[in-house]
Formats: sequence, structure tokens, C-alpha cells
Amino acid sequence: MTAGNTVARVDGPEKVTGRARYAVEYQLPGTAYAWPVGSTVAAGTLRSVDVEAALAVPGVVAVLTHDNVVRLDPAGPISPAHGAAVPDLLLLQDREIVFRGQIVAAVIAESAEAAREGASRVEATVDERPASLHLSVGDPGAVVPEMTNDLSPGRTARGDADAELAAAPVQLDLCYDTAAQFAMPMEPHAATATWDGDRLTVYCSDQGPNWTAVTLAGLLGLPETDVEVVADYVGGGFGSKAAPRPPIMLAVLAAKLVGRPVAVALDRPQSAPLATYRSPSRQRVRMGATDDGRITALIHEVTGQTSRLIPYVDQTATMSRTLYDVPHVRTVSSTLPLDVATPGWVRAPGEAPGMFALESAVDELAVHLGIDPVELRARNEPAVDPGTGYPFSSRRLVDCLRHGADAFGWFELSAGPWESAHGRFRHGVGVAAASYPVIIFPSRASASIDAAGTVVVEIAAADIGTGARTVLHQLAAEALDRPMSSIELRMGRSSGPAAPFAGGSMGTGSWGWAVQGACEALTKELATAGGRVPAEGLRVVHDTTADVGALGAYNRHSYGAQFAQVRVDRFTGETRVERLLGVYAAGRIVNPATARSQVVGAMTMGLGMALMEAGETDEVLGGWATQDLASYHVPAHADVGDLDAVFLPERDEHIGSVGGKGVGEIGIVGVAAAITNAVAHATGVRVRSLPATPDKLL
Ligand code: MOS
Repeated sequence: MTAGNTVARVDGPEKVTGRARYAVEYQLPGTAYAWPVGSTVAAGTLRSVDVEAALAVPGVVAVLTHDNVVRLDPAGPISPAHGAAVPDLLLLQDREIVFRGQIVAAVIAESAEAAREGASRVEATVDERPASLHLSVGDPGAVVPEMTNDLSPGRTARGDADAELAAAPVQLDLCYDTAAQFAMPMEPHAATATWDGDRLTVYCSDQGPNWTAVTLAGLLGLPETDVEVVADYVGGGFGSKAAPRPPIMLAVLAAKLVGRPVAVALDRPQSAPLATYRSPSRQRVRMGATDDGRITALIHEVTGQTSRLIPYVDQTATMSRTLYDVPHVRTVSSTLPLDVATPGWVRAPGEAPGMFALESAVDELAVHLGIDPVELRARNEPAVDPGTGYPFSSRRLVDCLRHGADAFGWFELSAGPWESAHGRFRHGVGVAAASYPVIIFPSRASASIDAAGTVVVEIAAADIGTGARTVLHQLAAEALDRPMSSIELRMGRSSGPAAPFAGGSMGTGSWGWAVQGACEALTKELATAGGRVPAEGLRVVHDTTADVGALGAYNRHSYGAQFAQVRVDRFTGETRVERLLGVYAAGRIVNPATARSQVVGAMTMGLGMALMEAGETDEVLGGWATQDLASYHVPAHADVGDLDAVFLPERDEHIGSVGGKGVGEIGIVGVAAAITNAVAHATGVRVRSLPATPDKLL
């Protein structure tokens, strides 16, 4: 295993010179533009769509409606993890309106402007039903799914948490809320689709071209080989592009209708209902402990919201099952179907809101007992996974906490809050643990050399801005023992060797393993051939399915500690984050620069989650009251103070050949709790409902 090596992004020049092409920049000859018409009601049945006025707009070519759309096969084969996204992809297939903003038609025109003008003239008549829009806890309509997000059970229990809680000398019963959040990638959801007979090519902003191709083929009833999905460059996704979303299918169906390429690019207000969102959460955490800070019982109950289409639930309670050495634990994840769009993955879905609640509660316990919160966490450190009894593949949580405490000056600063500006500002510090699962998914990659000596490494994975293109290129160069400049790395196309999506922080570990395997196999074949390349060249494909299957029974997680220092204005209630320090142990860090960028970005998202980001439901009309970056606030540069991230060295032999646990999502988990814990330290006000806007501090 070699140490990390900072290599500048290989695609940096393409990006900063504008040569990198994004989803609607392919400029295929004859491209038309589609503009969706969204339902203005939240619930009802579509009676009719009047398209005459739209068709009269100069430049309008056609209007896609229920009457002329291609039939999709809702039972067609789809990729892993796409199930929750499929109902939203079945555009115009029936007349039921289940959320405001749902696509009821789309106008196709020679220009985006004409399409937009046409869309404003489409008249949809709907038999409206009263809509339920409010997430109220305890609603009898809430359901507990067998599995949350296909990942883990909706209910878990070990020991007798209720009895142990009742018997515990110290008992806490606390409720936490987190707001809905939008991913808000810099590049909104967009796609250009073109048909050549029954063969389909889609250029789109998507985190997983290979998986998206499989799902599109399944729904369209096409062989997988007849669908090519291209995601050469993706301007961020943050989970919202990990499964295909309606704009991709809209481009496909519109292109089919008019027999020419069609481009779709959502604006921000359209993105709010169509590009998925993080469900708001209502969480209750009950914790029993001894006077010396041993947590003996933990009950974590979560309610989220979902659409009428599918009971989607984030895995919000999962960390409560394994993070601390608690003998008696019960968790429940439920969801309330409402007349809203289906939520989905956004930025550590589940772990980020769940750890806000858990790490706030641990801080409240520490304050209650007068035990330092770093020390309290160390006292509850498990030797093995308390849920399964499996050993940890590696775990440096306490090291992250202690190293961070020293680097941050925790023990001096946490002694008491302080003031400045003659009492106007109160300052305080907070800490929280971070953890995120190590997800390794089977992948393929190929490596080839031709007679001229050109080496090509290929994988159907997407670089969504994380630096994956650079990191995989580095791993290929290392495995082939050749300079990076002598290797061509191809990615972003579904026709390449099959790869999972860029999600769950699993890219480097999953794709890198396949890339290394292919490169090592090519090196061996070359050696067998005596170093001479045959005239027809050499090509090998490595598939890690068996390798991944052979990984032993371990609990695999990355860990970290988040430290925050805040300043609260006593007159305005405004919280500013003066310092954030994240210390992480995430296995091998292949490229320290791109890894640091990822977690620094994620910590900034944690700051947004803590203080400003809130998707607000319009409880009169349905849909979202916050639809753009003027009403949905994300951190700007001026909101970010002194921000730093440190990776502790870590070697993990049980997570595959790359040895990296994945970075990205670990950087957001725990940040919101660290910040609100710091606010509580500074002011004595415990904010249990995110975001911690000024009104909650006055
Ligand atoms: Mo990430 S929210 O798993 O793309």
C-alpha cells in the first residue's frame, strides 16, 4: 500500500476552459427542446389537457400528453436500488395526480424559449381531491416498511430497551426534527435523448450511467445493449442523480414522439418537485444511562414522509444500532404517505439526519452528567459490533475524537462559553462523532494494450465532480507501473464495463478494485507474452463479484469527529460558525487533495443543514414554498469560517484491494450536531429542530 499522492485533477483544464461537455451541451443536429408542464394541484385526476393554444405558439412542434406517449413497462427489469425512483419515471402513464409539480404534459419546440412559452399555455383540467400535506407524528397512516431504502430493517431490537430504560438511573426522552433538504447541484437535472431506430442514446447528468441504462431499457422494453447512457461530466448530484429522474425519461419520451433529439434542462423551481429531496424527519430518542455515563438503553424512533407512490424511508436509525456499546437497543423507522413527491437520497441519506439526533442526545447526556462529551463517547466504545458481534474491519473513532480534541483546543475551550463585543456575541464549542458505512459493490473494468502500445483502461462509472477520474487514473498507473500520461482512462458511458453508481461513497473502493484487478491481469498477460503485444492487442476484463462476495463478516465503517466553534449574536439570534474541524479515519486516502475537497464540501453541507437549509412545504397549494436558491439558502463563502479536515492514517485489510473506505458522506455526518451542541454551549439554548435559524435563539 502506498501513501496518498496529490495529483491535480486530470479533467481540470477541460472544466475551467469550458471544453467539458455537460448533458445539454452536445448540440446534436436537429435538437428540439422540451419544457414540462407541472400539475398546479397536489392531488386529483386529470380530466383533460388542452394543447391548442400551445400548438399555436411559433416554434412549437408538438405537445407530449397521456394520449400520445409511449407505454412503459412498470414491471421491466431495473437496476439495484432504483425501485423507489421508478414510479416517478412512469411519466404520463396514468391520469392520477399525486403531487404538485408532477408532469402532466410537455411542450416540444425549436427553442427552449418557445417550449416554455407553449408550456404556459397548456390548460390541464383536474378533478381535485383534498390533499394531505402535513407530516404529523403519530398519524395512523404511517407505515413501517420491512426494509428502509433496501438497506436495513425498518424495525430492530436487541435486549429489552423499554425495560432497561425504565430501570436506568438517568433517563432522557428527547425529540428532534430535521427539515426537508434539496440536493441543489450546480448543474440542474438535464438530459438530451436521441433515437436511432430502436436504439437510444441519452446524454444526461446522472451519477450512474450503467445502472440508469439498465433501468431505462427495462422500462422501455429494450435490450440493455440498445441503450447508451453518457454522463461524461456531471455538475454534482449529491444523491439526487443516483437514480434516473423524470427529466431523463421526459427527454427519451419526447424524442420518441417527434423523431429527433430532444433536450430537457430543468430550472430550479421545476427541480424542487422533480429532482427528489431529503425527507424531513421527526425523531424521538430515549436514552437510559448510569451515573458514570454508560448508555444502557437506547430507543430511536423516526418518522419521515413519502409520496402515495412508494413507501420510501431513509435508513435514519442505523447508526444508533452500532455506534455505541449499548446492550439494549430498539429502533423503528416509519413513513407517512402524503400528497407529495417521493423523497430520495440526498447527502448521506439517513445517516446525516439520524446522527443529528443521536449525537445531540449524547451531548445532552454529557451535559446532564457533567462528563466531557469526548470522554463520554470513549466510555461507550464497543470492542465489537454490538448489533451483530462481528469485529470491526478497523475503527479509530476514539482516536479521531482525541486527536481532534488536541488539535482544536477542545479541553480549554469547552471549559466554558465566552463573550466578545461587550456581550453581544456568545461563543461556544461542540463536538459530535461521525460514521458512515463502507459500501463495496461488485464492478467490472477493462484494461487493454494495442500493438502500438496504447494502454486504455475503461469503466462505465461517472465522475460527478469528486475527482474519481483522477483517482482511478492514479490507481491504474500504480497497478500497471506506468506513468499516468501513458494511459488513457475512459469512463462515463454505460457501454463500458458495468459499474455501480457514484453513490454511498463507494466509488473509489468499488471501481478502484476492478480497475486494479484489470490492470494487474493485463500486466500478467503481458509478462506471459514475453512483454510483446500480439498484433491483435491484449484486453482483459476484471469482475469483482467473487472478490466482493468473499469479503469476511466484519462491521465496516469509516469514522470521524467533528468539532465546531460558533458565535451567536444575542441581539439577532444569528449563529456564525467560526471554526469547523473534521478528523477522519477512512482507510487509505489515494489522493489527499481530492479527498480533502470532498469532505470540506460535505462539512459545508453540514453547516447548511445546521443553520439554513430548509425545504418548506406549501401547506395551502402543495409542493414546495421554497423553490430556488433565493428562498432555499445554502452556505456561501462568507458563511464558512476556518474550515479544516484531517485524515488519520489507517490500514484496513478487510475492505478490498484499494483499502480506502470512501470519503464524501462521512464529512457531513455529525456536523449539524457539532454546531447545535456548540450553540447550546454558547447560549444554553438547545436547538432540537433544524435548521437553527435566528428565531429559535431569541
Ligand atoms: Mo449519495 S446521497 O449516496 O449519492
